Amino acid sequence: MAIPYVEANGARIPAIGLGTWDLRGRTCARMVEQALRLGYRHIDTAEMYGNESEVGEGLRASGVSRDDVFITTKVWPDHLAPAELERATKESLKRLHLADVDLLLIHWPSPRIPLAETIGALCRMKQAGFARHLGISNFTVPLIEEAVRLATEPLVTNQIEWHPYLDQSKVVAASRRHGLSVTAYSPIARGRAGSDSQLRLIGTHHRKTGGQVSLRFLIQEGAIVIPRTSRRERLEENIAVFDFELDAAEMDEIRKLARRHGRVVDWSGAPNWD
Ligand SMILES: NC(=O)c1ccc[n+]([C@@H]2O[C@H](COP(=O)([O-])OP(=O)(O)OC[C@H]3O[C@@H](n4cnc5c(N)ncnc54)[C@H](OP(=O)(O)O)[C@@H]3O)[C@@H](O)[C@H]2O)c1
Repeated sequence: MAIPYVEANGARIPAIGLGTWDLRGRTCARMVEQALRLGYRHIDTAEMYGNESEVGEGLRASGVSRDDVFITTKVWPDHLAPAELERATKESLKRLHLADVDLLLIHWPSPRIPLAETIGALCRMKQAGFARHLGISNFTVPLIEEAVRLATEPLVTNQIEWHPYLDQSKVVAASRRHGLSVTAYSPIARGRAGSDSQLRLIGTHHRKTGGQVSLRFLIQEGAIVIPRTSRRERLEENIAVFDFELDAAEMDEIRKLARRHGRVVDWSGAPNWD
């Protein structure tokens, strides 16, 4: 089944991609290769994941043409001063063995470097041909507004934690107001959605698993999802989410799973921007 695309500010982004945080060495290269052979056309990596070389290896081994795959990487907050951002981007490209990436993101905002400097440097990466599109990650509502105001090139996504246990409606609305798509990371809540009794029950009506229901829920909310797995059978499971539809009552039931402390990714080391 063909994977739909999400269009945002001039970018066409496959609605599902393979997340690669914590995939290392041969496992990473193998999962990227297998994912692409199975029909994935979007891979999410970051300089911080320490696996860009293996992502590039998997891409080349898959035999899929470079231009048919949407590759995202991210610049770590330690490298957000302009000269550092340029150096980090070039090093990512060298590890990936690519001339450019489809999407270059600021991984997390930094309270130490003025956002104007970072966004200016990010925009120059597109102008220099190192990135086809630009975006942000873990940006709160005020920071989205500031980034959009400062950017001289379009921003096409805000990548944020999003799954049934987290209500992200405010950040999603702010992103959309400016034409940014939303990319949902940890879309199966680091595995928790797979064993959730309510999601599993909804899944039985569609012959789908709890993990698939979580991914489908986000896709119907308009998100791009980037689930990670180290298992081949789950690559297949996670991409098989375009042949069923959750009805309005099921969507409402899933929205009610959101909790105040529903995050699965630790923000304790992150700057407090709110
Ligand atoms: N921008 C950011 O700051 C940021 C932060 C976090 C993550 N991300 C990106 O988002 C990607 C996804 O997020 P994530 O890795 O945190 O979490 P996730 O994709 O929600 O969950 C991955 C975990 O769930 C398991 N899993 C995979 N498919 C499953 C299924 N169908 N049913 C049950 N369990 C399943 C995997 O185990 P197995 O390996 O055993 O299948 C793995 O332990 C990352 O890999 C990374 O690319 C970005």
